[in-house]
Amino acid sequence: MRTSAYINGQWLETDQTFSVLNPYNRRELARVSDCGVEETEAAIDAAAAAFPSWSTQTAAHRSRRLRSWCELIRNNLDELATILTQEQGKPLAEAKAEIKYGASFIEWFAEEGKRVYGDTIPSSSKDNRIVVINQPVGVVAAITPWNFPSAMITRKVAPALAVGCTVVVKPAEDTPLSALALADLAHQAGFPPGVFNVVPCARPEVVGRVLTQSPKVRKLSFTGSTAVGKWLMEQCAGTLKRLSMELGGNAPFIVFADADLDAAVDGAMAAKYRNGGQTCICANRFFVHASVYDEFVEKLATKTRKLKLGDGQKAGTEVGPLINSAGLDKVIRLVEDARSKGAKAVVGGGASDVGPQFYQPTVLSDVSVDMDVFHEEIFGPVCSVYKFETETEVIEQANATRVGLAAYFYGQNYSLIWRVAEALEFGMVGINTGRISAAQAPFGGIKESGFGREGSKYGLDDFLVKKYLCWGLGH
Ligand code: SIN
Repeated sequence: MRTSAYINGQWLETDQTFSVLNPYNRRELARVSDCGVEETEAAIDAAAAAFPSWSTQTAAHRSRRLRSWCELIRNNLDELATILTQEQGKPLAEAKAEIKYGASFIEWFAEEGKRVYGDTIPSSSKDNRIVVINQPVGVVAAITPWNFPSAMITRKVAPALAVGCTVVVKPAEDTPLSALALADLAHQAGFPPGVFNVVPCARPEVVGRVLTQSPKVRKLSFTGSTAVGKWLMEQCAGTLKRLSMELGGNAPFIVFADADLDAAVDGAMAAKYRNGGQTCICANRFFVHASVYDEFVEKLATKTRKLKLGDGQKAGTEVGPLINSAGLDKVIRLVEDARSKGAKAVVGGGASDVGPQFYQPTVLSDVSVDMDVFHEEIFGPVCSVYKFETETEVIEQANATRVGLAAYFYGQNYSLIWRVAEALEFGMVGINTGRISAAQAPFGGIKESGFGREGSKYGLDDFLVKKYLCWGLGH
């Protein structure tokens, strides 16, 4: 377990440190270097100094470094998963799945980085030729979230490094240890000093200001809340940085009358309870056709009742704690608001005594659109279930949100499937599945969920700039 900042290939201890807690019991796990302006500037300078050499290496060379990193991550799966569970709280099996998911982005981009093609374009003149080449954008700042403290780093860093960018990562203050463990393995994989830097900090706005205002940083990639994304975007305006924003969601999960209900309930469990409900693509609003509403609620409640809460490190735990007390307070407020306006808690409905930051897996029925839970991202283990009658009505309600990240629906009729898939205003749609994440697929949202795509063949685009070469033939 590393606890110092990683800058220019070296571990740097700072005068100030901050405490990282295990959310299961709120006990201190480690004290970590608290980077400020000076350390962040040093990391940016190191990344800028490393850029000319790293960006002019062959793609094959960069690919080999990435593959070594990926292999080291896979070889250290158990250790990395343990660190992740300790600082984040998710069950060990989910932590292992995240480490593998994170490694899959490195493997994917180690390959895709070799396929950064350009274009030749027929000219309107006999006297010149038109060529377009793609080049790395430059130094990238990556600001990453606590809910996937490992995979959200590799999903940003791997494409950046693959095309020749250098990177400064600012991990979330709740979960810096996974980032530092990845840096340790990157060091072992042989990335040159300055190519990959990590600046943990307890004061994100201080480090965030330096990263966003530095003219040496040419791109910011951020995953987090829409509110913080907007603030970062404003900060980046002065230097007109390229931006990728993976922001909040408010995912609808629609169950049509002809859906396979058992499959829909399985999908609902996966789309809701992964990471205790703390993912941006978690189902946030369940819309169920009136003809199957009671049956769906009962089946969902039965499965929810059986979920085992506890320490993520203990075998059998299915739902861990919420990340911090603010996260718990938010879930408590949303459920209280819904109940005060007429929602019924079929299961759960309050904080749990398993530990200081646990909330009972909850199913709320009789939920309506005037409740806060309709409009806000819950980020906790709560299913709010709405009743609908018509396709038009449910599409309107599903789209009645300013964000548009993920959506899900279950149904059998293929005409309906096409209609609904096209009508949903979201960047990703799960059709008869509650699991949509994959390295090969483009992850990202529309509207106030942000822009840019991560993973997939499109995931390189945000780290590249196009250069047009006009070759005069001198006739
Ligand atoms: C997220 O919650 O932002 C990431 C979820 C995923 O990649 O599956």
